[in-house]
Parts: sequence; structure tokens; C-alpha cells
Amino acid sequence: MDYTTLGKNGPKVSRICLGTMMFGDATNEADSLRIIDRAIDVGINFIDTANVYNAGESERILSKAIQDKRDQVFIATKVCGPMGEGINDQGLSRYHILNEVENSLRRLNTDYIDLYILHRPDYVTPIEETLRALDDLVSQGKIRYLGCSNFYSWQLCEALWTSDKRGYPPMVAVQPLYNIVNRDPEVELLPMCQAHGVGVMIYSPLARGVLAGKYLPGQDPPEGSRADRKDRRILVTELRDESFEVAQKLKPLADAHGKTMTQFSLNWALANPIITAAIVGPRTMEHLEDNLGCLGWEIEQDALDEIDRLVPPGEHTGFGFNDPQYPVIGRPKA
Ligand SMILES: NC(=O)c1ccc[n+]([C@@H]2O[C@H](COP(=O)([O-])OP(=O)(O)OC[C@H]3O[C@@H](n4cnc5c(N)ncnc54)[C@H](OP(=O)(O)O)[C@@H]3O)[C@@H](O)[C@H]2O)c1
Repeated sequence: MDYTTLGKNGPKVSRICLGTMMFGDATNEADSLRIIDRAIDVGINFIDTANVYNAGESERILSKAIQDKRDQVFIATKVCGPMGEGINDQGLSRYHILNEVENSLRRLNTDYIDLYILHRPDYVTPIEETLRALDDLVSQGKIRYLGCSNFYSWQLCEALWTSDKRGYPPMVAVQPLYNIVNRDPEVELLPMCQAHGVGVMIYSPLARGVLAGKYLPGQDPPEGSRADRKDRRILVTELRDESFEVAQKLKPLADAHGKTMTQFSLNWALANPIITAAIVGPRTMEHLEDNLGCLGWEIEQDALDEIDRLVPPGEHTGFGFNDPQYPVIGRPKA
């Protein structure tokens, strides 16, 4: 396993981070436990979960797997998504964070969370309120480091300068969507993270499975795939013929390297020096074993150039800025 620091910060984490979003849903508990065990055995010490993953099941299963290994792993979990029907059961208010951190600690069966991540921005709660609550939790030893996910660079920058101004602990990591067909973070977020030493743990490095090449333009998704299972996120974001076509054009490049498409796409992301870790999302042990083969070799320059022609730096064929959960402020109508 390869390791690096979390940006300019102290913790050393594996460059493959184990994502646990499938655990307790598409992956049953027994298989999830085996996958986590195997990941830790091969040296993965960075594990990503969230309170919302399968209504807390992912955190609960993870707790079982790490019971006697708590000090060997660096666990990230998240807060913001809805955890109940109540009006305050989501978001980044002090109220919700202080409730929800206790719930995550209980489900994870741990005294502390290594990296507590704001799952997405809250456009209502002032960032001062959120950071003040997190500062208290760091002082209480319940969380060790702070991170954010799905933040635009201006939002991360605002969080950093607010922490600086108020003497709160800073964000040490950001978790954006980044992969060959979604290169938007290259425009602002990644350069900003490089300038400020913020660690970058990318999610959906295979575009939720699209870069495995399993989806074909104009055809139904293969049986059992994430799209076939009607996963809402892949349906609204990644299922585009343009992305499927890029994936098919990557196949000969991966073949020429003697690698699977998944290994090739993960290697591409990890070759970017600003990326700390890629969060893989195996549904099966076979996925994990395959994904592990992404390290220890390099993509040839000709292939890198070809990828840049297929999806130019900073551009996307897939998700991009089209997430309906973010307000887009367009030009006022004349
Ligand atoms: N912060 C956020 O908002 C956010 C959002 C999403 C995810 N995440 C985190 O990032 C992690 C990874 O996200 P992701 O699951 O979307 O990552 P991904 O790597 O883009 O997609 C994983 C999917 O790709 C397919 N796959 C993987 N290896 C394969 C192989 N060898 N052969 C064929 N198919 C393969 C599987 O889909 P099939 O089931 O179709 O086989 C698998 O579920 C999650 O577990 C979670 O921890 C965070």
C-alpha cells in the first residue's frame, strides 16, 4: 500500500480509502465485514462512511469490523444529510451537529472520530455557527480533524478564513467528486487545495461504475448494476451516453497497459499529485481485489494525452455542476 499525508497535515493515510456506502444495503453485513478485513489486511488505514449511509448501517457494520483495530484505522464520517423526519434532523446547525455526532459515535462504538466531514454545504446556517460547534467537539476530544465534502472552492475558502479569524481548527481535507469524466475540480478546487495544503479525498473515482465500462450507449444497464438497482444518485447524475462513450474509448488504453478499466481509471486519478486518496466503493470482494491493482505502475504519456483529448482538463461529460441540490444563480432574465 502507498501512503501520504493528508495535505500539509500530520496524519498519514493510505492512497486507497475504503468507501463503505454499499455496506448494509447492496452488500450484506457478512460480505461487508470480509471486505473491510481484507482492506485492513492489505494496509488500507483510511475508511470513509457517513451517518446517512443506509440509515446508519454502514457506520454500525464498520464498528464491528474495527472493534479490536480502532487504533489502526483513520475513520472519516459525515454529517448534514437527513437522519429523520424532524425539521432539525439535517443540516449543519449547532443543534443537529451536536446531536448527530453522538449518534455516529454510538453507531461506530468509538470515543472519537478521526475526520468529521460536513457532507455538503448548508446554505442557511452561518459557517461561524458550524465551525464553532466543531471547535467544541475537537476540544472535547470527540473529533480529531475537520473536513468538508461537495463544497465549492469559495465555500472551503470561507471556512478556512473563518477558522483562521476565530482561532478554530481548520478544514484539513475536502471530499469532491472527481474522475476522468468529471474534471471540474481541476479548475479551482484542486489548485486551491494545493495552495493551502488541504488534503483531497475524491469520491466516485469510477463515476459510480460508469468507468468500469459496464454501461453502453442506448442499452439498458446490466442486471444487478447500480443503475439497474435504481440507485437515485447514479440515475440523476452519471448516466449519460457521452460518459459511456468515453468509457468505451478508455478500454483499449487500459488493455494496452494490461490493466482493467477500473484499475486504469483509479491510477489516472491518483497520478494527480494534488489527490491524497481515491475512495473506492467496492460492492463485492472481487471489486476490492481488482481496485487494489491500481497502484504501483504508471500510465504512458500518450495515453494521458488521449484522455485529455477525450475529456479536456477542467471539463466534464457527466455530473459537473448539474447537481439539483445546489442553487445555481444564473443571469437575471431581461
Ligand atoms: N461525499 C459524498 O457526497 C459521496 C458521494 C458518493 C460516494 N462517496 C464515498 O465514496 C465512496 C466511493 O463512491 P462510489 O461507490 O460512487 O465509487 P466508484 O468507485 O465511482 O463506484 C463504485 C462502483 O463501481 C463498480 N465497480 C467497482 N469496481 C468494479 C469492478 N472491478 N468491476 C465492475 N464494477 C466495479 C461497482 O458498481 P456496481 O454495483 O454497479 O457493480 C461499485 O459499486 C463511497 O463508498 C462513499 O464512501 C461520497
